[in-house]
Formats: sequence, structure tokens, C-alpha cells
Amino acid sequence: MPTIRQSIDHWRAAFAAAGVDSPRLTIELLLAHVLGLERGALLGMGEHELTPVQSAQLEALCARRARREPLAYLLGYWEFWGRRFAVRPGVLIPRPETEGVIALAKKLLPPDTRGWAVDIGCGSGVLAVTLALEFKQLRVLALDLHSMPLQVTAENARAHGVASRLWMARMDGLAAMPPVPLFDLIVSNPPYVTPEDYPGLQPEVLDHEPQAALVGGKAGLELPSRLLAQIARIAKPGALVLMEHGMEQGAALREAAQRAGLKDIRTEEDYAGLDRILVARA
Ligand SMILES: C[S@@+](CC[C@H](N)C(=O)[O-])C[C@H]1O[C@@H](n2cnc3c(N)ncnc32)[C@H](O)[C@@H]1O
Repeated sequence: MPTIRQSIDHWRAAFAAAGVDSPRLTIELLLAHVLGLERGALLGMGEHELTPVQSAQLEALCARRARREPLAYLLGYWEFWGRRFAVRPGVLIPRPETEGVIALAKKLLPPDTRGWAVDIGCGSGVLAVTLALEFKQLRVLALDLHSMPLQVTAENARAHGVASRLWMARMDGLAAMPPVPLFDLIVSNPPYVTPEDYPGLQPEVLDHEPQAALVGGKAGLELPSRLLAQIARIAKPGALVLMEHGMEQGAALREAAQRAGLKDIRTEEDYAGLDRILVARA
């Protein structure tokens, strides 16, 4: 059976040839997953021989990765805000840019904020669950149009011990919400990729992630603009609104927020200095 070192050498080269990002990190993470270890534990284990079962499992996972299946789906989890979240096909893999929504909520709201938050388009539930974890008094409603995201959000809420403060509903935007000003915090990372940009995305995204989680209608702005128009009906006066968007959509969304009657409207940049999150008050 191959040793750890031999597996790393073989698959690092195979991943590089297949155009997989970070080939060495990828094989190390898959090896650690198969062996049930943290990646750091592989250090010094180069001559350790895999069992036949481990070797077969590794071979199967690596072959799928070489065909550009996303690493997160193969591992069954991904990290967000320093915590591990279950992910699987049918839900978007959380992106690092989205952590900006949490960073802003923490910057703009005191930790003992009470009341209700809503996460529109919850996907794996990273925003809803992280808000419940960071704001211990907050109750959170997670909404999605599709059922798989709601299942995975429920799983992640249970795994992180916040299920008693997190509710879920299947809904198109906020259409079925009664017009009651209930929410103190409204967050969303809606689909916002343009139909023109979509075919140019990486094979991992195009062939494996749900298109409905990514494409936001004409100019990528249809759903984000519709959501902004609906927010006024459910937000308490002064409620904080945080919405992630594409790097060229800042101006259009500020206009949409103004039309929706929101106040104190501005755009925050992400770590790369690109327009990324609309910030406003109801
Ligand atoms: C970009 S993903 C964001 C997922 C998660 N919040 C995150 O940041 O990783 C957008 C989510 O919105 C959901 N969605 C798409 N259209 C929707 C709609 N009309 N109403 C509610 N949710 C919708 C998708 O199913 C998907 O889970």
C-alpha cells in the first residue's frame, strides 16, 4: 500500500495537471480526512502506510477532486468565521467574503443585542447560525426558496447548539412575511451573479454548485433589488440591513436601497478592497 509521502507526491502532481487549486493542501486535507486526523498531524508521518481501505477511499475522493468536484463537498464541511459547517451538493459553499457581513454586524451592534434577525437565502446557514452564536440574546429566522438549504441549516444549528433560537421557513424572498416591523437585523447574501458572467465561472462552481444560489436574474440585481424593496415592510425603524453583492453592483444597490426608503446607505469594501456589502438602516 502507498505511504503518506507517496500519496502526497502522486496526487499533488495529478491535481496540478488537472488544474486544481492548491494541489498540496488539497491532498493533505483529503488524506487527513480519510485518516481521521487534523492536517497538522500528518507531519512526520511520511513513511506511514495506508491500509487497503484507506487507500481505496483516498483514491476515490482524489479521482473526484481531479474531476473538479469541490473539496468542500468531498469533505462534507467547510469553515466559516473559524467554525466548521456541514455542506453538501444543493447548498452553496460559504465564501470568505461573506464573513464581512458578520464582521460588520459585530462592529455595528452591541453583543447583547436582543430581538430578531432574519437571513434571507440562508444556504448552509452560515450567517444565521453565526449570528445566533455571536449574539447570544438574538433570535434568528433563516429563509430559503429551496428545501436542501433549510435541511443543512437545521443540521448546522443543532451542531452548534443554537437550534432553540433559530427558526426556518421556505419562502420566495420575503413575499410571505406578514407586514409587521419585527426585525432589528436583516442580512442576506442573495444570488447576484449576472447571467453573462455565470458561464465563465470555474468548473467546480458551474458543474457542482446550485445555479439558483448564484444567478440573481437580469444584471444579477433582480433578486437583491426585490429584497430591498420588501425589507421596509418587516424592519423595525433603525434596523440594520447588511447585503452582500457583486463588486460592480454597489451603486445600483445604493439606488435600490434609496428607492426602498432605507437610510444611512453606504457600501463596505471586502478584504481585497472591492465593493462588497450594502449597509443601511431602515
Ligand atoms: C449566494 S447563496 C447564499 C447562501 C448563504 N447565505 C451563504 O452566504 O453561504 C443564496 C441563497 O439564496 C437562496 N435563494 C435563491 N433565490 C431565492 C429566493 N427567491 N428567495 C429566497 N432564497 C433564495 C438560494 O437557494 C441560496 O441558498
